[in-house]
Amino acid sequence: MQKITIAIDGYSSTGKSTLAKQLAKALGYIYVDTGAMYRAVTLFAMQNGYIGDADEHMEDLVKALPKIDLKFVPNDSLGFSEMYLNGENVEKEIRQMQVSKHVSRISEVKEVRHKLVEMQKAMGKDKGIVMDGRDIGTTVFPDAELKVFMTASSQARAARRYKELLDKGEKVSYDEVFDNVQKRDHIDTHRDISPLRKADDAIEFDNSDMGLKEQFERLESIAKRYIANQ
Ligand code: DC
Repeated sequence: MQKITIAIDGYSSTGKSTLAKQLAKALGYIYVDTGAMYRAVTLFAMQNGYIGDADEHMEDLVKALPKIDLKFVPNDSLGFSEMYLNGENVEKEIRQMQVSKHVSRISEVKEVRHKLVEMQKAMGKDKGIVMDGRDIGTTVFPDAELKVFMTASSQARAARRYKELLDKGEKVSYDEVFDNVQKRDHIDTHRDISPLRKADDAIEFDNSDMGLKEQFERLESIAKRYIANQ
């Protein structure tokens, strides 16, 4: 059976990654979480003092980009790949609130986007891939056979992210998370390069009132139909 490229874009905390990961597993496809790549660059920028609460030095980050090595390393016991930054597993750190606070700013930087988009294109050259992010259907794989655009109300998304962070033991308030979701929406949809927008040929998927099982079953049947029609 011919393999296709599946692009899943949408707002933060719409559950894109969970769904994309499940779908890739069911189809035997590679899964790539591009948000993890932007988060790892953000962590690198934080570790080196290029971004913080008080100031930023983007020109220094741009100069240091060749020193950033990103890899997805499969973890068989977890059943998915984890993000490594310069040889170190940073999967936990990149999900922390501090990284979420700075990641949209880092992902506005043209040179950062250029580096990551080139890597993403290379990962998908043989198809058989499910990639999720903000610009996958518009910039990374404009010719993807199946494009999905996920949305949900900001309240539903903040509630999900808040629960996730509490479950991980982070001390955050709901208001802080809600504020972060709204700020990221604004920056993601208003930046100059590759802003988040639905590709004309993407299927819109609003999951505010949909459970995980229902979302997965719907998406899997759509994907199988697209694959069969190749
Ligand atoms: O999917 P996520 O919330 O982990 O993504 C983190 C941030 O990275 C998000 O606020 C915007 C940015 N991002 C992006 O600009 N382009 C992508 N393809 C993926 C993520």
